Amino acid sequence: MRQRAAGISSDTASRRLPLPTTRDEVYRLGETLNEMLDRLDAGLERERRFVADASHELRTPLALLETELELALRQPRTADELESALRSAAEETDRLVRLAEDLLLVARADQGKLPVRPSSERIHTLVEQVAAGFRSRADGLGRLIEVDAPASLEIEVDAGRIRQALGNLVDNALRYGAGPVRIRTETRDGHVELHVTDEGAGFEPGFLPRAFERFSRADDARGRGGTGLGLAIVDAIARAHGGSASAANRKVGGADVWVTLPVGAERSGTTDL
Ligand SMILES: Nc1ncnc2c1ncn2[C@@H]1O[C@H](COP(=O)(O)OP(=O)(O)OP(=O)(O)O)[C@@H](O)[C@H]1O
Ligand SMILES: [Mg+2]
Repeated sequence: MRQRAAGISSDTASRRLPLPTTRDEVYRLGETLNEMLDRLDAGLERERRFVADASHELRTPLALLETELELALRQPRTADELESALRSAAEETDRLVRLAEDLLLVARADQGKLPVRPSSERIHTLVEQVAAGFRSRADGLGRLIEVDAPASLEIEVDAGRIRQALGNLVDNALRYGAGPVRIRTETRDGHVELHVTDEGAGFEPGFLPRAFERFSRADDARGRGGTGLGLAIVDAIARAHGGSASAANRKVGGADVWVTLPVGAERSGTTDL
């Protein structure tokens, strides 16, 4: 056992210790150590997958950016053409910056280090701010964003993070749903639920259990430019507030995704960066 243990490193993390045939304390110790190796191995595997997925996601926008710039430089261009090329390069860069920020958030949440700075916030104001941020895009799509939140309800949250989480949900409802998008709050036994609903086709039922996994998206969504991090981030933000995130399809049709937060939220996140 000692010899095998000495040879185990991150490259050989799938190896396990040989167990003695005696069913004694040494056997049990070996068994416990093997279980520990299982957990470490799973953690390593998860980390490797994250790096692979993240690199894969970064490659596409980077390749687009490269092509954009190469084309712009290939032959003499008018000032207008150059300007338009620079504009799309800037858009691509913007997307990359957001992707990098999303990746960083997910990685931090994994280590339990998602910074959360709670203060007393009026939920109605928060929700209105999110809705206002999406109104012009919704207008362009001929869609409505409706808010249904009590004016007086206050809650201890990190306003920026909650706006980000709600923003991801409204973005999804506009991108994958149809009809009006409603942001609605519900209070029940010491919790506040922030729901975002739409009247589209809803989630593919088989996809629902995986919806909050990072990089997961129902297959055809890839073409629509999603990275599959939006809901993972919603989940991370909810947890950092001591809450949770859930998704379901509504009986009347459409998706319902919500964040449940304890009122006077106990925090599980840390405040240091
Ligand atoms: N309101 C909705 N209606 C139907 N399907 C949805 C809805 N919201 C999310 N989904 C499905 O869940 C998947 C995961 O959503 P998520 O927000 O995590 O990732 P994304 O939108 O693909 O990418 P990102 O948010 O990182 O840009 C989506 O790709 C889509 O297939
Ligand atoms: Mg999304």
